[in-house]
Amino acid sequence: MNSPADRQIGRSHGRPSVLVTRRLPASVLERLRETYDVTVNPDDRSLGREGLLSALRSFDALSPTITDKLDAELLRTPGLRTRIIANFGAGYEHIDLAAAKSANLVVTNTPDALTDATAELTLLLILMASRRAGEGERIVRAGKWTGWAPTQLLGSDVKGKTLGLVGFGRIAKEAARRVRAALGMRIAYYSRSRASADEEAALNAEYCPTLANLLAVADVVSLHCPGGQETRHLINAQTLARMKPTAILINTARGSVVDEEALANALSLRQIAAAGLDVYEREPAVPHALTELENVVLLPHLGSATLEARTAMGMQMADNLDAFFNGRTPPNRVA
Ligand code: 8YV
Repeated sequence: MNSPADRQIGRSHGRPSVLVTRRLPASVLERLRETYDVTVNPDDRSLGREGLLSALRSFDALSPTITDKLDAELLRTPGLRTRIIANFGAGYEHIDLAAAKSANLVVTNTPDALTDATAELTLLLILMASRRAGEGERIVRAGKWTGWAPTQLLGSDVKGKTLGLVGFGRIAKEAARRVRAALGMRIAYYSRSRASADEEAALNAEYCPTLANLLAVADVVSLHCPGGQETRHLINAQTLARMKPTAILINTARGSVVDEEALANALSLRQIAAAGLDVYEREPAVPHALTELENVVLLPHLGSATLEARTAMGMQMADNLDAFFNGRTPPNRVA
């Protein structure tokens, strides 16, 4: 057994030391403890810059989440002990990959584990936004429901309408499969690289060569591209103006993809009908311009928030650590 002082500085007796920055499902921690000298941040809050720096200096491996910003300055600090950053999550734009590479740090993610849960949440947001579920719930909870009326809270059917996917990776394809099967919508997509003819045929998906083409045909626009500089504010005043006035925007990807001020403006002027958001540019801050609107559904980044998905993410993260510490290339290496 290591002494508490040993553990504090991440020293281990043969077993690699791992710092887990947030509380994870019990079964994941149990598995990690079989192999590693595991320390879990007891506060279940972001460690902050100082905490992350001290972790990078003290532990062989770090398992961060989206709430830990590992920027170039941190990763280029001389004398780091950490050799692998095994991210708990699919998106990794909070980690500066170039800096990690130059510091000889391996970075991995968990791309498969949350596909089902996030695709499911996409359907939830489509239905909530199209059927005005949030508005309805607020009225009931506020005791303001005066009873059924033929024209009360009329939403719109989605059957036969077009779901336009921005990005066509794992989550987008799974969402498309479910939306087609459960909601009877047509599928169109815009992505940097076109999918194979077989994949398109399986979903009867129409490829749109430009974002403008997609926005012109889509009744529901759903974002599934990565975050980061390249996609920052892809949805802005100009692109919102290309959407149909009846269209709904769904974002389960990253908040940075949407210019929130422009979106709030488009929603309040009814340039588009509604939006369903799970992610925000400066989480956990949600702009007042959005919270004061009725025609937007606002969820607190629940994409992968099921016990099944969070457990699978932890297991995938552990697989990456196991491969690395056994001298193999981790299956989900991104740097
Ligand atoms: C995760 C996500 O919960 O994995 C992702 O990319 O957006 C979320 O579902 C979060 O990122 C965990 O770090």
